[in-house]
Amino acid sequence: MNKKNLLIYFITFSFTLIGYSQKKYTSFKPGTLWLDNNDKHINAHGGGILIYNNTYYWFGEHKTSGSTGNKAMVGVGVYSSTDLYNWKDEGIALKVINDTTSMLQKGSIIERPKVIYNKKTDKFVMWFHHELKDQGYTAALTGVAVADDITGPYKYINSFRLHAGILPLNFSKKEFEAAEIIQDRKDENWKEKVIKGAYFKKDFEVGQMSRDMTLFVDDDETAYHITASENNQTLHISKLADDYLSVTNEYIRVFPGGRNEAPAIFKKDGKYYMFSSGLTGWKPNPGKSAVADDIMGEWKSLGNPCIGTEKEEATTFWSQSTYVIPVIGKKDAFIFMGDRWTPKNAIDGRYIWLPVEFENNKPVLKWQSEWDLNFFNNN
Ligand code: DGJ
Repeated sequence: MNKKNLLIYFITFSFTLIGYSQKKYTSFKPGTLWLDNNDKHINAHGGGILIYNNTYYWFGEHKTSGSTGNKAMVGVGVYSSTDLYNWKDEGIALKVINDTTSMLQKGSIIERPKVIYNKKTDKFVMWFHHELKDQGYTAALTGVAVADDITGPYKYINSFRLHAGILPLNFSKKEFEAAEIIQDRKDENWKEKVIKGAYFKKDFEVGQMSRDMTLFVDDDETAYHITASENNQTLHISKLADDYLSVTNEYIRVFPGGRNEAPAIFKKDGKYYMFSSGLTGWKPNPGKSAVADDIMGEWKSLGNPCIGTEKEEATTFWSQSTYVIPVIGKKDAFIFMGDRWTPKNAIDGRYIWLPVEFENNKPVLKWQSEWDLNFFNNN
């Protein structure tokens, strides 16, 4: 071997070694510590994935340790991966703002960030659940930020309530007029009144609440904002404007009084599927699933998608949905992404990723202590 070949051999060998050392995982082990390229547990909770240039980008809440861990002390983190197992820390995509007059100041609450790419404007658009500093979960706002590059920096635009003064497509003026405003649950027939629009009417002038949220981009590039509104009692699905920076007036109420949080949407064979959860704070509860022929309704409940022991079914394998990932290059391969929250030490929250299976035309989830993407070849 001459010197030149030896050098090429040496360089190739070194790169292979580097590549090998970066690929520490070849499978998913739900619920275990999941280390990034810096050997730190991935910090991207309540996350979502954007696929761009054949790479997965995972955006999520950057939690901290200690009692302020669930508040936004840093911002929204982003990681990248080409194989879904091994993730590179790409830094903080959206930073909290060091100014106490800003709504996005340190100590506000930023949850469930989701990023989508707008082909027309060539911009990356992030939406997130936003609560104002020291106001608990009362503000119930949705926030928007935008960036030229996928990993940021994202420029904060604004946070707001939705659809002030606008009726949903599936709620008539007559129904609105008949709705009775109530203030709390002590009211007799509380649930029935909520279904008929009590909370909706209460917020009609100021705008509808938005808490747990997700985004979904359809095949025709139309994007949708899906959120827990009406004091978490009813989901609202809104069509976004062409630039994805605001909502249009087209929106619907889904499962009035159904108490859904944590919505996550995916599309298979022309049908829209939704995973969501019930409403028990950081504690897990039985998962829910639903299907629709049209994302703007009617949605039909498909029940708890989890198949397992009584405890697993009652707790979504001790997790709460956040997103569903379509696997690049594999038809009908979807991964359920959930959070196993650890509110006392939020930074330690674990990730429950499971393959979505279909049985009798329903999406189902079964526990896997370890699995890999070959699962989809065998099923
Ligand atoms: C459940 C939600 O899904 C989370 O995103 C978070 O808002 C917690 N509730 C807060 O209790």
